[in-house]
Amino acid sequence: MTIISANLNRRGHARGEEHVYHQGWYPLAMSSELGVGALIGRDFLGGRVVLYRDPSGNAVVQSAYCPHLGADLSVGDLCDGQVRCAFHHWSFDATGTCVRIPTEGKIPPGARIFTYPSAEAWGLVWAFTGEKPLFELPYIPRMKEADMVYRTQMNGIVSYEPWLPVSNGLDFQHLRALHGIAITEPDRIDVKEYSIEYTITEQHKKRHGLVTGTNTFSLYRDDSGHETGTLFSGTPLRPGETMVFSVVGLRNTHPRSEEDRAALERKLDAIAAYTARLLEEDDRVLTTMRFRQGVLVAADKHLARYLKYVREFPRASFIEAC
Ligand code: FES
Ligand SMILES: [Fe+2]
Repeated sequence: MTIISANLNRRGHARGEEHVYHQGWYPLAMSSELGVGALIGRDFLGGRVVLYRDPSGNAVVQSAYCPHLGADLSVGDLCDGQVRCAFHHWSFDATGTCVRIPTEGKIPPGARIFTYPSAEAWGLVWAFTGEKPLFELPYIPRMKEADMVYRTQMNGIVSYEPWLPVSNGLDFQHLRALHGIAITEPDRIDVKEYSIEYTITEQHKKRHGLVTGTNTFSLYRDDSGHETGTLFSGTPLRPGETMVFSVVGLRNTHPRSEEDRAALERKLDAIAAYTARLLEEDDRVLTTMRFRQGVLVAADKHLARYLKYVREFPRASFIEAC
C-alpha cells in the first residue's frame, strides 16, 4: 500500500488502492476560531475531530465520534472543560477518558476517545497524526514567531493531496517556467528523515526553504536585508480534499508612529498579494494535472529526491483504529 505509485489518479492518490495518510503535524483551525468555551468539529483524514480549549486554555483535539453510539461530539457541549455528548450525556475529559455516564456508577474501560498530540503556533491549532510526535512543529527558518508580524489565513479547500503542492518547494524548474522567478540552484540541500531543507545564496539575496513532514513548506527570504517568511500547510479532510492554510509575515521592526505601522501593513499586503498570485498560478496546474512520476530529467533531481522521501514517509495507520 503506497501513497504514490507509478499509477496515480489526477488528484494524486493511488488508484484502486486503499488511501493512506502520512504521520505529521496538520493544522485544523485558526487559533482565533477557538475562543474560550468554543467546541468546533472538523473533518479530518476521512473521520472527524472535535477541538476546544481545556481549563488552562490549551487547545485539545480529539476523535469526534462518541464511543457509545457514534454521535458527533461537536454537536454536544462543553461543561467544566469536559465534552458532553448531546445524545446520552456521556462526558469526556481532556485526556479522552469518559468521566461520567449519567445512568452508570462504573464506566467501561472502552469508553474513551483518542486525544491527538496538539500544539498552537503561527496562529494555527495543529494535531499530530500519531500517538507521539515524531518531529517538531513546522516553523519558518531563521524567524522566531515572536520576532515577526504575520497574518494567518485559511485559503480554502483544494482537490489534491497535500504532498503535491509541497513538491513545488523542491521543483525549481517550475519557479522559472510557471512563475517567472529567476532563481539559482541551492547551495545545499539536506534530506533528513522527516524534513528537507535547502539554502540558496545570490547577490543580496538569501533563501532558506524547509519541508516539514509531507504537508508543510516554509520559506525564509532576505532581499537586501528585507526579511520575510511564508508557510503553507495542507490538511486532508478525506481523499482528494485538502484544507489549505497559509502564513505570511516579515521581521517586526516595532514601528512607533502611525505612519510606520501603516507602512508595515502595506508591506504585509504586498507579500500576501504576491503569495496569492503564486498560489493561483499553481492551483491552475495542480487541479487539472494527472500526476505521475513520468520521464524525469537531470534538472528534476531535487524533485525526484522529494518524491522518494514522500514514498518512504511513515504512514498514519493508527487512524483506522480511532
Ligand atoms: S452516543 Fe454519545 S452518549 Fe450516547
Ligand atoms: Fe509554485
